[in-house]
Amino acid sequence: MRAARAAGDRRPVRYPHPALAARAARVLRDNDTGSVITAAPALYPHMWSWDAAFISIGLARLDVQRAIAELDTLFAAQWRNGMVPHIVFTENDAYFPGPDRWGTDEAPDGPRNVRTSGICQPPVHAIAVQRVLEIARLSGPDDRIDAERFARRIWPSLYAWHRWLVEYRTPGSSGLVAIVHGWESGMDNSPRWDVPYDAVQPGAALPPYVRKDVRIVGDASERPTDREYDRYLWLIEEMRRAGYDQRKVVENSSFLVGDVFITALFAMSCDVLVELGKEFGQEREQLEDLTDWAAKARTAVAASCHSVSGMARDRDLRTSRWLDTQTIAGFSPLLCGGAPDDVQLRLLSLLDSDRWCGHPGLLAPVPPSVSPMRPGFTPRQYWRGPQWPVVVWLFTWAFERRGWHERARKLREGGIRLTEDGSFGEYFEPFTGEPLGSTDQSWTAAVVLDWLCAD
Ligand code: SER
Repeated sequence: MRAARAAGDRRPVRYPHPALAARAARVLRDNDTGSVITAAPALYPHMWSWDAAFISIGLARLDVQRAIAELDTLFAAQWRNGMVPHIVFTENDAYFPGPDRWGTDEAPDGPRNVRTSGICQPPVHAIAVQRVLEIARLSGPDDRIDAERFARRIWPSLYAWHRWLVEYRTPGSSGLVAIVHGWESGMDNSPRWDVPYDAVQPGAALPPYVRKDVRIVGDASERPTDREYDRYLWLIEEMRRAGYDQRKVVENSSFLVGDVFITALFAMSCDVLVELGKEFGQEREQLEDLTDWAAKARTAVAASCHSVSGMARDRDLRTSRWLDTQTIAGFSPLLCGGAPDDVQLRLLSLLDSDRWCGHPGLLAPVPPSVSPMRPGFTPRQYWRGPQWPVVVWLFTWAFERRGWHERARKLREGGIRLTEDGSFGEYFEPFTGEPLGSTDQSWTAAVVLDWLCAD
């Protein structure tokens, strides 16, 4: 089926849904190296942790075995202390910083058979495992049996990953899960991190480097700046010097921030892990741990809410200050629940308002990474304004779980509207719908496939 040309549309093509699904499936096939599905063909030629989780959901719609293999590959790179690394490197050397720059080969807890980065990414893997299982159960008895075996087998690794976040990444009394690098949030250059990054002073000992991302993405203004990259690289340097000893890293890193969005995802993932654990007969003590961690995480998210706006906030743990920048992460309590009813109502009406999804200029009514009404909103720059389909997917998934089916349906329709040009952009300019960063981004294809198959 061919794409239709829509008269008067801001974008020239809109694919009918069956053709869009077929294109999404082709993106996942084309990005498959045989052992991993790369996050994107040129810009990201490796496996990224939270990308792999979303990719497995899309893959399950095509081939449950392949979805399981993808998550197995990621967890084969899990560190001995429980951390799931944010990148599992392939042999490709077109990405910077590669494994040599990370210098994790000698890290005492690192895996021996594969090279990885030395930080983590948001804990969405339990959500992916449950989703793969749900899809497999609809797909047939063999897929169901395989997915159930897999869920039982991977559960202890998921538990170890969650335990690592509690043991090493919940310092201080805020109860928020802390990150030591903006890349850990997945929202690399979000204005959420501007204040803490201002305090990061790259030392003279920062080894020289050449960026590769800006050569691949034609327009460098769609990517983080060189000033930001200096800080990204300096934080890696600090971790290398600490030998990737997590206690030293958390104690000494010049960047330590309680991330409210990760904390909300952690609460939901703990809930999911409890559900899976009950079904597959995991130990009661571990289920109690997870229930306790989820409750504490929800309390921390609720406690972060601003008294006037209701928006959830990150906390700079180096200065003990709340970070008031309003971004998509401010809606975290709508994902995980736990905030008082009046706060939740305020957030829902803010989300619907012309400051967010109801902004009259948006091509698709889904939340941008930053409100178009905020100073500093930059519609083409990475996490400073564009819309990210994968974030929309998280809201649709969480809203379904919360019983907000109509809201979930509307967001899903908006997500499809955003992506039906068939480019599978990494992120989109909110007013024109122009795809930005990479095209044929695997996780965009994956979430679109999941939306379309759920229809
Ligand atoms: N998203 C990062 C990048 O742009 C890495 O996690 O390279």
